[in-house]
Parts: sequence; C-alpha cells; structure tokens
Amino acid sequence: MIPDETALDAFAQTLAGELRPGRTIALCGALGAGKTTLVRALVRALHGDDDAVSSPTFVFRNRYEGVPPVEHLDLYRIESPAELAELGLEDAFAPDALVIVEWPEHAPSLLPADALRIDITGVGAGPRTIRVGGGAAV
Ligand SMILES: Nc1ncnc2c1ncn2[C@@H]1O[C@H](COP(=O)(O)OP(=O)(O)O)[C@@H](O)[C@H]1O
Ligand SMILES: [Mg+2]
Repeated sequence: MIPDETALDAFAQTLAGELRPGRTIALCGALGAGKTTLVRALVRALHGDDDAVSSPTFVFRNRYEGVPPVEHLDLYRIESPAELAELGLEDAFAPDALVIVEWPEHAPSLLPADALRIDITGVGAGPRTIRVGGGAAV
C-alpha cells in the first residue's frame, strides 16, 4: 500500500535499483492513478532531479538525459495504428535507455514482449496499490 507521495518516492527508489538500461516498463492505471507522478519519482531516483519532466499528456514523448536516459511515452491520445506510425516512436527503444510507456494498451505492437508491466490502482487523494510484473502488490 502506497499511502502518499512520500511512500511513492520510497517505492521509486527501490524500483530504480532493480531497473537496467534497455528495459521497457508498461505502466498501466486509470487517469489520475499516478503514472506520470511515478515516472517523475523514478527519474528523480535515477538522475537526482526531474528538472526536465513536464506532463507529457499532449507531447507523447519526453526524453530525460542522464544515466540511464529515460524515455517517457504517453500514448493516451493514440487512437489508431496509423496515428502511432506517424509519430515514429520506435527509436525511443534504444538499448541504453529505460523506456516507460503510459497507456501501453493503446499500442500493443510497439512494446517489446519482455516489457515489465506495472499496474497502479487508486485515484484522488486516496492510497495507491502498485503491482510489478506478476509479483505481490505493494
Ligand atoms: N500516493 C499517491 N501516488 C501517486 N499520486 C498521488 C498519490 N496521492 C495523490 N496523488 C496525486 O494524484 C495525481 C496523479 O496524477 P498523474 O500522475 O498525472 O496520473 P496519471 O498519469 O496516472 O493520469 C497527482 O496529482 C498526484 O499528486
Ligand atoms: Mg499521465
């Protein structure tokens, strides 16, 4: 159980220690679940700051330079394979980058088969539950 954003930061620190470059995270959860908030927390955990992070809802793609570079894709507004193809997001999946994809279900063909699925449940000011891969919920 993640009662607040301080706990989310602690979760992000632990998760950051387990992620390797080349990994893709499929980040699932309703609008307002905290997907973008978790991306920010992860970038802070990995890079020490999240200066470059802004809400990508209308941007589709943000890259955060650091070690490893973090590519953050938000596919909320993708409605068709043709629209996805126009964006040319394939080069985000570089072997040295950590790629985090919000709304991966909008573009199943884009993600590698070994993407790590993370599910966030809960909205508003309430607590969150996060499930990583097939593991136990925290
Ligand atoms: N424990 C928590 N974990 C994550 N976000 C939380 C938590 N408690 C409150 N929030 C708030 O919920 C909102 C989540 O928004 P956002 O991260 O943009 O969601 P999403 O990207 O999933 O649509 C933020 O305003 C954040 O401050
Ligand atoms: Mg978001």
